[in-house]
Amino acid sequence: MKRFHVLKRLPDQRALLNLGCGTKMHEAWNNVDFSVYARLRQHMWVVLFLRRLGLISEPRFAQFSLVEPDIITWNLARGIPFPDRTVDVVYHSHLLEHIDREDARTFLLECRRVLKPGGVIRVAVPDLEKWANGYIRSIAESTATDVVDHEQVIADLLVQLVQREPTTRKLQNALVRWLERVALGDSAKVGWRHRWMYDRLTLRALFRAAGFEECQVVSAWESRIKEWNQFRLDIETDGSEYKPESIRMEAIRSSN
Ligand SMILES: C[S@@+](CC[C@H](N)C(=O)[O-])C[C@H]1O[C@@H](n2cnc3c(N)ncnc32)[C@H](O)[C@@H]1O
Repeated sequence: MKRFHVLKRLPDQRALLNLGCGTKMHEAWNNVDFSVYARLRQHMWVVLFLRRLGLISEPRFAQFSLVEPDIITWNLARGIPFPDRTVDVVYHSHLLEHIDREDARTFLLECRRVLKPGGVIRVAVPDLEKWANGYIRSIAESTATDVVDHEQVIADLLVQLVQREPTTRKLQNALVRWLERVALGDSAKVGWRHRWMYDRLTLRALFRAAGFEECQVVSAWESRIKEWNQFRLDIETDGSEYKPESIRMEAIRSSN
């Protein structure tokens, strides 16, 4: 696999990176992921063939239509496949929590490496503070005789920390589950399992430890990235906030 990929640029020459994009992407960005969607997108005939055999469910097939054909298939554990100081924006949403806690700073240093001085990093992760407050509210409002909703609150918080098989895979038939397990591995290997969680204090500390400056918690609509709202990466098609349980933080790579 080649080390560096060619960067796509906007007409104003900006290069924007969306790392661990999943199926949430914009055509003008350089979208990077190693998911099954990214791996098979360049081989749509395989997808259509598997669909015909009934090995790809319709909801899963619909996800393929959201993936840009020029998505870059790359395992970010190998670094970011672009040269130093070449990109204007690094964005990742719900990726950092999939990286081992002890590797998170190294990964942010890698984000810093590819950013031009003055470039913006924007990161969204599940907000531990919101999740913890949700748990406290739920236990206060629940009774010992009716714990179904409360169990669900706990499951939503913990499932991705412990489950060996991704939930989306569990919904597939037994043969597909087996094939995916053999070909791709368990939930940790495919980047589905959560390795850590962050809140506004620890995320800021991590940004600082990686040398970023001017850290700011921002809303889904707020950004120092020019024309951010036109890309619709943190909003749903109906205009509502995407993944409202998130905390979003931005910072700048200084000139040194
Ligand atoms: C929870 S999804 C988030 C997708 C999208 N950014 C969003 O906010 O909906 C995490 C994504 O990170 C990708 N990912 C995790 N580890 C990765 C790695 N080492 N290299 C490339 N992609 C990775 C997964 O494949 C998955 O698509």
